[in-house]
Amino acid sequence: MSNPESPHGVDVLDQGPALRFPPGFLWGAATAAYQIEGAATEDGRSPSIWDTFSHTPGRTVAGHTGDVACDHYHRMPDDVRLMADLGLKSYRFSVSWPRVQPGGSGPANQRGLDFYRRLVDELLANGIEPWLTLYHWDLPQPLEDAGGWPARDTAGRFADYAELVADALGDRVTYWTTLNEPWCSAFLGYGSGVHAPGRTDGADAVRAGHHLMLGHGLAVRAVRASRPTAQLGVTVNLYPVDPATDAPADADAARRIDGLMNRFFLDPILRGSYPADLRADLRQVTDLGHVRDGDLPIISTPLDMVGVNYYSRHVVAAAEPGAVPDPTPSCWPGSEDVRFVDRGFPVTDMQWEIDAPGLLETLQRVHRDYTDLPIYVTENGSAFVDTVVDGSVDDADRLAYFDGHLRAAHAAIEAGVPLKGYFAWSLLDNFEWSWGYTKRFGMVRVDYDNQARIPKFSARWYAEVIRRNGLAA
Ligand code: NOJ
Repeated sequence: MSNPESPHGVDVLDQGPALRFPPGFLWGAATAAYQIEGAATEDGRSPSIWDTFSHTPGRTVAGHTGDVACDHYHRMPDDVRLMADLGLKSYRFSVSWPRVQPGGSGPANQRGLDFYRRLVDELLANGIEPWLTLYHWDLPQPLEDAGGWPARDTAGRFADYAELVADALGDRVTYWTTLNEPWCSAFLGYGSGVHAPGRTDGADAVRAGHHLMLGHGLAVRAVRASRPTAQLGVTVNLYPVDPATDAPADADAARRIDGLMNRFFLDPILRGSYPADLRADLRQVTDLGHVRDGDLPIISTPLDMVGVNYYSRHVVAAAEPGAVPDPTPSCWPGSEDVRFVDRGFPVTDMQWEIDAPGLLETLQRVHRDYTDLPIYVTENGSAFVDTVVDGSVDDADRLAYFDGHLRAAHAAIEAGVPLKGYFAWSLLDNFEWSWGYTKRFGMVRVDYDNQARIPKFSARWYAEVIRRNGLAA
C-alpha cells in the first residue's frame, strides 16, 4: 500500500504530532455476517430475524436485504487477501447462527461451520488474528417464533450454540466476543422496532436486554469449559450522555438515558447488579419479575476483556413543559419524554455528531468506574457519501474521523487506560441494517453491481498507520 495521495489526507496527517501506539497493539477491522456474507439460502443456512425483517415491505430503505450483500461467502479468500494487503493484525467477524445451527437448536450444520473453518484458516495463513463474535443480531427465526430474546429460554439456546461453535473453532480462535451491542438487539429490536424483529413493547425490550446478558454469561461459561485458554469478552455500544444545561431536570434526563444506554449493561456484566436508580426507572414498564435469583452471578461471570463500540455522544434535555408526547414507539422505555439535542456539530451521513473526545471519556469511564481488564475498541467508524473519480475514492471525511478518534484512543492509553487494540468499522461497505446499502461505512468501497472492491484513501492511510504502529506527524 502506498501513502495516501489525497491532499486532504495529507492535511489531516498534519493536524497533530506523530503518535506511536504500544508494541503489539492489535490493529483490526470488523464486519458482521448478515451485513456482508449474502448466500442467504446456501449450504443449509436457515432464515434469521433479519431475513424476515428485511423481506417485510417497509422495514428497510428501498426494501434492501442481505440476500447477496458483499457476496463475501463466495469471495472470502479475495477479501482475506485484501486484509493482508492492508496489513491488518486482526479481523473481527461474526458467525451466522442460522448458518451453523439452522433453526437455532439441534445439530450443527457442518457445511456452515466449514465456511468459518476455511475463513479462520485463511486468516491464520495470512498472519491475521481471528476475532470471533458469536452474535451480531441474526437470531434464527424459529427462536423468535418461540418468543425471541424476551423469552428466557433463548438464553439457554444461545449457550448451546456457543458451545457448538467453540467445539468446532476453538482450536484456532483465541478471541471471542459473545454479543455485539446488546442494547441494539434489545431496545431497537423490541422497543422502537426499527431493527429486527421489529417489535414495539418497552417491557419486552427490558426483558430482552436481561436475557441477552444471561445468554452472554452462560455462553462465557460454555466456551470456557470447552476452551480454557479462550480470551472472552462482550461488546457494548457506549455513549457519553450529557445534560443540555445544568438544570436539574436535564441532569435527570441524562441520568435516565445513561442508565438505559450504558449502565443497563455495564453494571450487571461488570459489577453483578442493576443500579438502584435504573431499577426504579424500569419499574415504570415492568415489575422486573424476569430477573431471577442467581441470574446476576451468571451475567457477571469473569471476563478476559471488554469491547467498546463508539460512534458519538448523546446530549439530552427534559421535555418542555406541556410538550405532547411523541407517539412513535421508543427505544427508551419509561423515558420517552427525553429530548435529544442537536449541538450543531459536524455530522456523518448517519447524522451522528462527530465527537472524538467522547471516545476518550468513554474509555476512561469504563476503566475508572468498572474494570482493570484489557479494553478493545471493537468498532469505530463513519458513514459518508463517497464518489468514485477515475477509479479512486478520496474519502477525506472518513479518514479525518479515524484520525481524530485514533488520537483520542492514544490519549486514553496515555491516561492509563489498558487499551489493547482498535477495530475500524468497517472493512467493506455493507448492509447497514434498516438503511440497507444507502450508508457506506467501508474503508473499501463495494460496487454492488459487480462486487468490485476499491480500497478508499482511508484504507491506504490505515495501512500506513498499522505499518508505523501510529500516526504520522
Ligand atoms: C454498530 C453495529 O455493530 C454495526 O453492525 C453497524 O453497522 C455499525 N454500528 C454502524 O451503524
